[in-house]
Amino acid sequence: MTVANTVEARCCFKLLYAIVVVLLLHMSSPCIGCSERERQALLALKQGLVGDDGDLLFSWGREAQNRDCCQWDGVYCNNETGHVVKLDLGGMYLRGKISPKLIHLQHLEYLDLSFNDFNGSKIPDFIGSLSNLIYLSLSEANFGGQIPNQLGNLTHLQYLDLSFNEDFDSENFFHAKNLNWLPNLSSLKHLDLTSTNLSDVVGWLEAVNMLPKLTNLILQGCNLPPPIISSVSIMNCSNSLVHVDLSLNNLNSSIFQWLSGTHTNLVYLDLSENYFRGPSIPASFGNMSSLVHLSLYYSELEGGIPNSLAKLCRLRRLELYGNSLSGQLTNFVEILSECAQNTLEYLDIRGNNLSGRIPESIGQMSKLETIDFSQNSLEGF
Ligand SMILES: *[C@@H]1O[C@H](CO)[C@@H](O)[C@H](O)[C@H]1NC(C)=O
Ligand SMILES: *[C@@H]1O[C@H](CO)[C@@H](O)[C@H](O)[C@H]1NC(C)=O
Ligand SMILES: *[C@@H]1O[C@H](CO)[C@@H](O)[C@H](O)[C@H]1NC(C)=O
Ligand SMILES: *[C@@H]1O[C@H](CO)[C@@H](O)[C@H](O)[C@H]1NC(C)=O
Ligand SMILES: *[C@@H]1O[C@H](CO)[C@@H](O)[C@H](O)[C@H]1NC(C)=O
Ligand SMILES: *[C@@H]1O[C@H](CO)[C@@H](O)[C@H](O)[C@H]1NC(C)=O
Ligand SMILES: *[C@@H]1O[C@H](CO)[C@@H](O)[C@H](O)[C@H]1NC(C)=O
Ligand SMILES: *[C@@H]1O[C@H](CO)[C@@H](O)[C@H](O)[C@H]1NC(C)=O
Ligand SMILES: *[C@@H]1O[C@H](CO)[C@@H](O)[C@H](O)[C@H]1NC(C)=O
Repeated sequence: MTVANTVEARCCFKLLYAIVVVLLLHMSSPCIGCSERERQALLALKQGLVGDDGDLLFSWGREAQNRDCCQWDGVYCNNETGHVVKLDLGGMYLRGKISPKLIHLQHLEYLDLSFNDFNGSKIPDFIGSLSNLIYLSLSEANFGGQIPNQLGNLTHLQYLDLSFNEDFDSENFFHAKNLNWLPNLSSLKHLDLTSTNLSDVVGWLEAVNMLPKLTNLILQGCNLPPPIISSVSIMNCSNSLVHVDLSLNNLNSSIFQWLSGTHTNLVYLDLSENYFRGPSIPASFGNMSSLVHLSLYYSELEGGIPNSLAKLCRLRRLELYGNSLSGQLTNFVEILSECAQNTLEYLDIRGNNLSGRIPESIGQMSKLETIDFSQNSLEGF
């Protein structure tokens, strides 16, 4: 072998080495897409699921041209790390089982499986291992049985929606025996458990109170038992709440105590259909000066409408119908029409026992679209 040849060979080897290094770098770089482990996890997930119209996840394939799972429908990757961070399979009407391999998507921050059909099965415990989740929606997905305590592991969650999982066909209704896991979700801003049977959850208000960042609380039609108001649960109640819907439950008037005074940021409050059995609307509701929407219909409320309520000058919608409210309406409407002159759109007080005449000042309310004073004892009706 000549000297020249050896130099040439070395050169060749170096070039080859460089090419191999470049290739290796390229393969591990994010631009080639998701990792093999995450790809396999998604394929396992697909295998467990079937759509109504055949294969809705047809972009999820093993073929060479489909290698990059970051390009698949509903799959989103972080553009720097290449990890799958978002999975949006909402509204695909998928049926079947959720593969436990889902937990291999360890970097998942956003998971939406709403509007699918999991046939009354339990929410899998292993969801609790997706500890980076910020957003979880399992709404209207036909889950049944008990909410797993493992959700308490999802300490980064800001948004949790488990609403409308109603399995009408079986005894297997969607429910929770306790909410002991809830206080662990200390970043939570939005909680919707609408239509979850919470009739056994005596300490629900204490649990909710321990969420310092909660802005939206939606527990409609949850069979909520009356709240137990300890001095602790009043003292610690958060001022962060903006939207509260506790309609269609079994609350008693102790809930007024919790709301009074402290919830100054409330914009939306619905306590309708709670069968309060006789109390008046507390005058202190007039302190919730940010309220835009107040619903208290069909709630067995009695007594007069406090004039303080007429000073809620941002109100757009006021629904007090179907109670046994009594007394003079005139003064209340006069103050309200002054105060909410340019905001109030909807006023429904029908089906009470209110008297007096309707003042002309009501004509000042420029935004009023719907007004119903019927089925009272008002003059001129
Ligand atoms: C990565 O995504 C972020 C927003 O999600 C965007 O601002 C940024 O420009 C993207 N970077 C690249 C290299 O595409
Ligand atoms: C749905 O659940 C019911 C009752 O548990 C069962 O009989 C039925 O086979 C399930 N259907 C499917 C498609 O898994
Ligand atoms: C909770 O998350 C950790 C990782 O943060 C995981 O190791 C553990 O298995 C999870 N526990 C449950 C019950 O999901
Ligand atoms: C909630 O957090 C506490 C302490 O931070 C922990 O001991 C407990 O296991 C957690 N509960 C759940 C259900 O994750
Ligand atoms: C809710 O749960 C309670 C007790 O667990 C039960 O008695 C009741 O029938 C359930 N209600 C509905 C509507 O499922
Ligand atoms: C109430 O707040 C106090 C002081 O911030 C805290 O020590 C206590 O654990 C809280 N109690 C509950 C039930 O949240
Ligand atoms: C509401 O119910 C709770 C629990 O049963 C009870 O402690 C409280 O006294 C009740 N409040 C009213 C105003 O009846
Ligand atoms: C709340 O309203 C009541 C009755 O209108 C009033 O006496 C009380 O001072 C108010 N409290 C606050 C904190 O504004
Ligand atoms: C309606 O109110 C009047 C007093 O304004 C009262 O005498 C009457 O009993 C009330 N009727 C009902 C059905 O509550």
